[in-house]
Amino acid sequence: MTIEAKITALKQTKNAVILAHFYQRPEIQQIADYVGDSYYLSKIARQVDQELIVFCGVHFMAESAKILSPHKKILLSAAQAGCPMANMARVEKILRLREKHPDAAVVCYINSTAEVKALCDVCVTSANALSIIRRLPQRKIIFLPDQNLSSYLAGQCPDKEFISYPGYCIVHHRVMPEFVLSLKQKHPHAPVAAHPECRKEVLALADFIGSTGAILSYAGSSPATEVIIITEEGIRYELEKQNPRKNFYFPDQLPMICVNMKKTNLENVLWVLEDEANAIEIDGAIRRQAAGCLEKMHLLAN
Ligand code: 13P
Ligand code: SF4
Repeated sequence: MTIEAKITALKQTKNAVILAHFYQRPEIQQIADYVGDSYYLSKIARQVDQELIVFCGVHFMAESAKILSPHKKILLSAAQAGCPMANMARVEKILRLREKHPDAAVVCYINSTAEVKALCDVCVTSANALSIIRRLPQRKIIFLPDQNLSSYLAGQCPDKEFISYPGYCIVHHRVMPEFVLSLKQKHPHAPVAAHPECRKEVLALADFIGSTGAILSYAGSSPATEVIIITEEGIRYELEKQNPRKNFYFPDQLPMICVNMKKTNLENVLWVLEDEANAIEIDGAIRRQAAGCLEKMHLLAN
């Protein structure tokens, strides 16, 4: 019996469901029941009937699922898969910012811990940040932890004043505009699709800016037969599956790899399913406060 067959059989016996992010390894995306961006996965985790969820992604994703569905058992396939950006936002610093700007809405990116979400007014993902922020009555926005997403949103909402936290993604922030320029030189007919976690100078060169899910939709609907993609390379699997006749180019000056996303493999998926290991637990009071922040996202994003 292959490891994939064992996972499928166990999943059926236990009535479990597997959720995976687009940055996961191809073999993980293949065995997953649902694959998507952070917003899609957050919605699906709430909607599925199954009470046992194996999350193939990073910690904040599984934790967000547990915050909204405390009665479900959420297993993180790789216990050590964190998101360095999520850990950059510090509680004391957020409290100080709140004190300094009492009239501001405190908005957190879903790439944040439950403790941080518990302190914020509303959560967003890159798929819904713009529409949610435009709907907030406050003019002043404290945005954390991603400085690049914050600067992109500020550019799109000129009527708002943004106070940005200095966090960043260790994968997207390393992409320099020269990398994009050299790809554009090699492929002059290819439009550029970039994730908003990239630097402002990189986003200035993009034809399209959006979440991983939005990048996929753009690549599929664009008449272009080749597209330059500025995000983590795991998305290539779904891009090529959906668009077998198109070519996709990624920066080659550095590996576009999130090591944390790659900590999940078939072996640890099988192991967490067998042992029901790595179950996410959150302190009750923090969970309840953080739930308000995530519930508001789902309410405003609709
Ligand atoms: P998406 O919500 O666009 O999938 O992004 C998640 C993420 O961690 C990007 O680095
Ligand atoms: Fe975090 Fe960046 Fe990895 Fe996304 S790609 S999980 S933001 S480190």
